[in-house]
Order: sequence, then structure tokens, then C-alpha cells
Amino acid sequence: MRNVYFGTFVHSLALADLQVLPSAAVGVDEDGTIKFLDTNSRSAEASAEKHSWTAGSYSVVSGDPASVSFFFPGFFDTHIHASQYPNVGLFGKTTLLDWLNNYTFPLESSFADLKIADNVYSRVIARTLSNGTTTAAYYATVHTEGTNLLADLALKAGQRAFIGRCCMDANSPDYYCDKSLEDAQKATLDVIEHITKIDPNHDIVCPILTPRFAASCSKELLCWLGKLSTDTSLPVQTHISENMLEVELVKRMHAFADSYAGVYDMCGLLNDKTILAHAVHLTDDERALIAKRGSGIAHCPASNSALTSGETRVKWLLDAGVKVGLGTDVSGGFTPSILHTARQALLVSRHLSMKGEESHKLSIEEVLYLATVGGAEVCGLANKLGNFLPGKKWDAQLITLDCKNSPVDIFPWELKTPEDLVAKWLFNGDDRNVTKVWVDGNLVAGTAFAS
Ligand code: GUN
Ligand code: ZN
Repeated sequence: MRNVYFGTFVHSLALADLQVLPSAAVGVDEDGTIKFLDTNSRSAEASAEKHSWTAGSYSVVSGDPASVSFFFPGFFDTHIHASQYPNVGLFGKTTLLDWLNNYTFPLESSFADLKIADNVYSRVIARTLSNGTTTAAYYATVHTEGTNLLADLALKAGQRAFIGRCCMDANSPDYYCDKSLEDAQKATLDVIEHITKIDPNHDIVCPILTPRFAASCSKELLCWLGKLSTDTSLPVQTHISENMLEVELVKRMHAFADSYAGVYDMCGLLNDKTILAHAVHLTDDERALIAKRGSGIAHCPASNSALTSGETRVKWLLDAGVKVGLGTDVSGGFTPSILHTARQALLVSRHLSMKGEESHKLSIEEVLYLATVGGAEVCGLANKLGNFLPGKKWDAQLITLDCKNSPVDIFPWELKTPEDLVAKWLFNGDDRNVTKVWVDGNLVAGTAFAS
């Protein structure tokens, strides 16, 4: 059945252009594609008639007229370690390399047990979906079966997901690593085969080549993955320049290149479907190289603050034409929510501006762009997702600010513009306000589900 969604719509058209449409209608066809966006609509029926949709050939879905609600595009989490979810909030005073050894590798190694994988992955998918994340770029672990299970669960739940088996054949603990280059290659191909079997066109779940980071992979493995990416057009995800000790380690390990980004580039891993997490300590030359290759950055402000990695210069990246989206980086980051991550991005940008340049400061409009259209660009899906323009897919969330137990208190006399409501939501909202979530036109989650 076709649907006409009617009510208030909020979406991004460009970095600083957040459109708030107090009375609009969106027509979505049977396969979840947006056919029309009526920006000034009297009623769902009037808009349907205008687009020659006859009565009875569609259903109407309205935000509750008695409540303060709006439709918003689904969020993109461009960087999340599904396997690390049990560790959210657990990082003490560690920084990246000791955090990996003390918290992360021991946890990930337990995913040889499929019961643990099933329990954790089911939870993560439910939690991210109920926070409005309709597309996630997941890291699993080194385990083939557990990674395949993550793909099965995402597909079943109806969440768009990039599924990455971590490749790590060097400089990793004996108890948790790929035992050889050949093992890493075989396991990578097995996961691609499985995902292609369950979703042949990779419409909902898609394999993503995942060298964990340059410091945990041999040059041979990096270059094999680079060639595989070229041959198959599959996307790539990895970490870059998160922490200064890591940057030094990569320099020592891969002296054939003159920079961290250069390592990936010389191995063929930088292309327009590559997602690079963090990018805190890049040089000007690395920024130019990444821009030239069309790779995108997953900005993970909660993680960068928790692990004291530093402050990514988002405006500096955007100014050079580098694509930027947001990542929770669970469990370097402590929250599975992209709304919270957008809030953190805004605050981290203020810390940068307090150190000197006002130009680093990100606005509400800008961080909400990064959470949606920016994420879609980084994932190579901007032609299909990110806002409500006709031709795109209906991946959306219905936000209700005055729902039961809402964390957002509204005093109507105090709010001057519809944009003020968006600000209230950004700084005070959470998953309780996510009343419905759709992916590809299908209702998949929301508090409406829980009750
Ligand atoms: N670098 C290599 N592995 C990881 C990881 O699991 N999390 C983060 N934040 N950085 C990494
Ligand atoms: Zn990460």
C-alpha cells in the first residue's frame, strides 16, 4: 500500500540549511520510494489529489495533531563496534592503545561464543533502531560466524547495515587475531559470500572490508583488501589518526609511506566508498589526499573525548571538501545514540573555538546535517537517503516532544519559532521521543512498538 505522511517535517537540504515545514505531505510508494514532497500542504488528501493519487489507493499516516511532533530522516551511525556494546561507559582513564588491550580485545575475543554474539548483537540493533539509527556501519569481530550472525540479525530487524569482519593479522594479541594472511583472506571472503546469499543486491545489509587499522594489519593484507575493494566495488572502513601514540606506531610499522593516510592510499584503500573513523591528527597534506580520493570521515566526538584522543576539526575537513558524518564509536564512545553524538559534536566544536578560532564552531543545523545527509554521503548513499526529497527512500523517524515521560519540557509561550523546538530536541531529547521508525518504507521500531 502507498502512504501519505502528513504533519511537520524537518530535514537538511545543505550544511547550514535545515528546512522546517510545519504543514507538509510526503507520498511514499509501495517499494518505500518518496514520490512527492508537498512543502505546503492543506491535508494529506489534498496533496494526494494534487499528485493524482486516487482515494482508496493510499493510507494516511499523521503525526498526532494533539501533540508536538515532527518527521525527521533516519540517523546514520557511520562508525559503531557492535561487539563492544557491553563495554559502554567502561574506559577508566585509559587512552587508545591500553584501552584496546585492557578492555576491548578481551571482550571481542569472547564472540567466538555464538550465544554471546546473539545476545549482544540483538541488543545493539534494537537499541540503535529505537534511537532512530536507520543505517549503521558496524564492526563485528574477527569471527566469521558471529559476523554472519550480525548480518542475519540486522536483515531480520530491517535495519540498513554495513557489516565488517575485523581483519587483524599483525601486532595483535595471540588470543585475538587472524592467525595468518590466508586465514584473514578466507574469512573475509566467507563473510562476503554469506551476506550476498542473504541479501543478493546488498539493499539492506552490505559487506564492508574492514582492516581494523593500519597498526593491526600487514602491508600484504592491506593491499589485498585494497585490490578486493577495486575488484568488487565493496566499501571499506577503518580507523585513522585517532591518537598520537597510534600515529607514531603506524609510522614505525609502515615506513614505506610518508603518512598514515599514505599507508592506506598506497594499498589502494582510499576511494569514494571508504569510511575513515576519527581523523583527529591529520596533516594538511593528508586532508588534501583524502579529499582528492573522495573518502569520508566518521566523526566520533564522544569517543574522542572519553579516550582523550583529541578534537577533530570538522569545519577544517568540510572546508576542503571532505565528506563528514557522525559515529558513536561504541564503546570508545559511551552512547549508542546519534542524537547525543550530534550534541557532543556541537560541544567539541566549541572547545576547539575556545582555543582560538571561532570558525570551528558548529551550529544545530550543521550537526543535524552531519547526522543525516553527511552520514549518507560518507556511506555512499546520498542519492538514496538522508532527507525527504523525491526519489529517495522513506527511512524516517517520528519525533514526539510531548510524549509520555518525555525528557523535553516545553513551555509554549517561551518558544518563538519552530526551530526552537528542534533546539530543545537536540539538547534534551532521547529515545523516549522516537515514537516510530521506518526503513525502506517499513515500520521497524519506536516506543509505539514497546507499549
Ligand atoms: N583503533 C583500532 N581499533 C579500534 C577500536 O576498536 N576502537 C577505536 N576507537 N579505535 C580503534
Ligand atoms: Zn572505532
